[in-house]
Amino acid sequence: MQEKAKPSDFDWENLGFSYHDLPYRYRVTYENGEWGEGGLTEDSNLVMSEATPSLHYGQQIFEGMKAYRRKDGGINLFRPDENSKRMNRSASRLLMPAFPTDRFIEAVKKVVLANEEFVPPYGSGATLYIRPLMIAVDSVVGVQPGKKYILNIYVTPVGPYFKGGLIPTAFVTSLYDRAAHGGTGQSKVGGNYAASLYPGQKAHSDGYSDVVYLDPTEHEYIEELGSANFFGITKMGQLLTPKSPSILPSITKLSVLTLAEKMGLKPAQVQISINDIDEFSEAGAMGTAAVISPVGSITHNGEKHVFYSETEPGPVTLKLYNQLTGIQFGDVEGPDGWVVDL
Ligand code: PLP
Ligand code: COI
Repeated sequence: MQEKAKPSDFDWENLGFSYHDLPYRYRVTYENGEWGEGGLTEDSNLVMSEATPSLHYGQQIFEGMKAYRRKDGGINLFRPDENSKRMNRSASRLLMPAFPTDRFIEAVKKVVLANEEFVPPYGSGATLYIRPLMIAVDSVVGVQPGKKYILNIYVTPVGPYFKGGLIPTAFVTSLYDRAAHGGTGQSKVGGNYAASLYPGQKAHSDGYSDVVYLDPTEHEYIEELGSANFFGITKMGQLLTPKSPSILPSITKLSVLTLAEKMGLKPAQVQISINDIDEFSEAGAMGTAAVISPVGSITHNGEKHVFYSETEPGPVTLKLYNQLTGIQFGDVEGPDGWVVDL
């Protein structure tokens, strides 16, 4: 077994977004039509058949969520029921078994508590990232779903996903598509990310944070970023976010829509043409990993469109960030049921 991480290995204020092999993960197996009891294990390696459809046909789904250290030392989860529901929708799309929501939340709590000393301190800006994964593990040669599955939940301490956190970064459109209308864009499946690896790496090597994907039919309307949903604030002060059948229904977006309504931003999910982005005075990325990250600019067809500033977050973006993270870290009262205490 590899050597496990220790709390003293971490400089909480300067964490990147990377994997660390912590002492415990949760694991449960589905076999003969039912989920087993499951529990914690120290083994960070998974065992599967060489013929499993997860390896050959991408029968694999995952989730992303976080645990937040509060000022009083306690720990919050943020809307874990929504992650469970989305995981079960992804499971249904890929003919995989649902995992009950009450068991999912218990499992997440268990693995966070077992690794409690790795939940970064309040005020460090860092969090404990939680990554549930479900894969087929049995042998299938033809294009068919498996019958045996593993659900595994690992955790790892993380800092900002985009370098600089609240410092705006640059994005670029791509001729590549991430997901088709009618495909698996609404599901959190590895295949969508496989399709994004090549354009993502090209964007990085050209100095951009990530790709802004356009719709797969006309290549005109903004879909989302490779790792987060997109929003823009119009010059009239309205929050717009793309409406599309091929983007991930982000839980951060769902929450931002509620907060934006309360803030008087008249949020709407609409088609957003890449040709109209100069209408936005601010733009941003929203997601569990991305939190709320300002999009400083989008380069499209070689032309760079700068939003509020390339060095400072805009005022609305900052307000949304403060509201959302305030609720997540327990400093601000959120709507009923959003925060789950460990
Ligand atoms: N879109 C993509 C492609 C993502 O990978 C993520 C991250 O999970 C999101 C959007 C944001 O979703 P959420 O807010 O539920 O994390
Ligand atoms: C998340 O925000 O949880 C994601 O899954 C985004 C990325 C790290 C894949």
